[in-house]
Amino acid sequence: MSNNIVWHDHNLSKTDRAKLKQQRPCILWFTGLSGSGKSTIANAVESRLYQLHKHTYLLDGDNIRRGLNAGLGFSDDDRVENIRRIGEISKLFVDAGVIVLSAFISPFQEDRDRVRALVNGEEFIEVFIDTPLEVCENRDPKGLYKKARKGEIPDFTGISSPYEAPANAEIHVKNSELSIDACADIIIQYLQQKGYLNAQ
Ligand code: ADX
Repeated sequence: MSNNIVWHDHNLSKTDRAKLKQQRPCILWFTGLSGSGKSTIANAVESRLYQLHKHTYLLDGDNIRRGLNAGLGFSDDDRVENIRRIGEISKLFVDAGVIVLSAFISPFQEDRDRVRALVNGEEFIEVFIDTPLEVCENRDPKGLYKKARKGEIPDFTGISSPYEAPANAEIHVKNSELSIDACADIIIQYLQQKGYLNAQ
């Protein structure tokens, strides 16, 4: 990084921006295997928040891996960089006063912890979408597990690349035992109870 980059003081603070939106900004960090239901649940949560007049943005493979991170693949190094950039973007959205929903496999605990460390303690909420590999593989919505088993996709999470389950996620959702609505309820209740949906 150039030595000549100097922070410019902004007139408005994160608190000002959040106040206007009547909410406490945070990152809901969804992690889980491919096919675990991360994006589906994140979408359901975002719709609920919209109905509650909350300001949100959903980051997922569709808007990140096709754009900003289009050049990144699935090697360990590329996944680390994928998550690092998503973490930095999520941090900017928090600064904008927004409730961010980030839905990525994010298989490595160290990378998730690095994102956690980018923001204030209560601003990072790890949401473990805990769906057993067998269930994800049976669902196989994109046919990727089948291909991975045939050896056609290298470094496939859960098959030929590891997934480190979170040890201390703030929210633990067993998607295979609950409806999508019930999963969304758990997350909305957490946000309500902890005061994220109230004005500052
Ligand atoms: S992450 O590991 O870097 O966090 P990310 O969530 O962005 O992964 O992308 C995962 C999605 O990319 C999967 O849901 C699947 O559709 C697709 N994909 C393509 N190749 C792989 C692979 N080798 N491992 C896992 N997912 C893959």
